[in-house]
Amino acid sequence: MQFTTAFVAASAALTASALPQTTPIAADAKFGILAIHSGSDIQNTPFQAALSSIIIGANSQNASCDAPTNSATFYLQDSELKLFAESATPQSLFVDRSGMGQGKVGFVTGAQPLPSNAETKGWAIDDKNVLSFNGEGLQACPNSIDGAWSVWLSGTTNPAGNSECIGISPAVQVADPAIGCSYTS
Ligand SMILES: *[C@@H]1O[C@H](CO)[C@@H](O)[C@H](O)[C@H]1NC(C)=O
Repeated sequence: MQFTTAFVAASAALTASALPQTTPIAADAKFGILAIHSGSDIQNTPFQAALSSIIIGANSQNASCDAPTNSATFYLQDSELKLFAESATPQSLFVDRSGMGQGKVGFVTGAQPLPSNAETKGWAIDDKNVLSFNGEGLQACPNSIDGAWSVWLSGTTNPAGNSECIGISPAVQVADPAIGCSYTS
């Protein structure tokens, strides 16, 4: 059964990814996200999920996955961004635009409560397959764990004391195949 489901998903993903990248992805697509910032160290580097945060460029995201991968797979549901897994309770992203959160982008696992001030609804993918939250873009800051950059909403300079952050365009790409993972919290 598991195999059948995975096979169908992989076939669907293959069909979608054979189309030009500017074709809007299907509403129910599973996708990876690439950081786009020409000339930066993280140009075309996939988003990862680890330690309840979204990061880019870690040597390993240390996730427990159905197949080997070092990047995260997402999907959009009711304008919420979720991490793809075969399990019934997905890990869900949130943003914290409060003065405390400073644009923090994180995720919670299963029934784990959201931090106060966390928002989950507002994610959208435009017709160029670029992701945003309530019309806001993202930025990435170097010197996070394991050689990675941490991902934040744009709008706050030096969020949580980080420096040398750069604006990134989060480009969505259909995951082919979509690999389910449980990410570390
Ligand atoms: C992954 O695990 C290694 C070994 O324990 C650790 O050094 C590294 O910081 C971890 N990376 C992340 C992103 O959690």
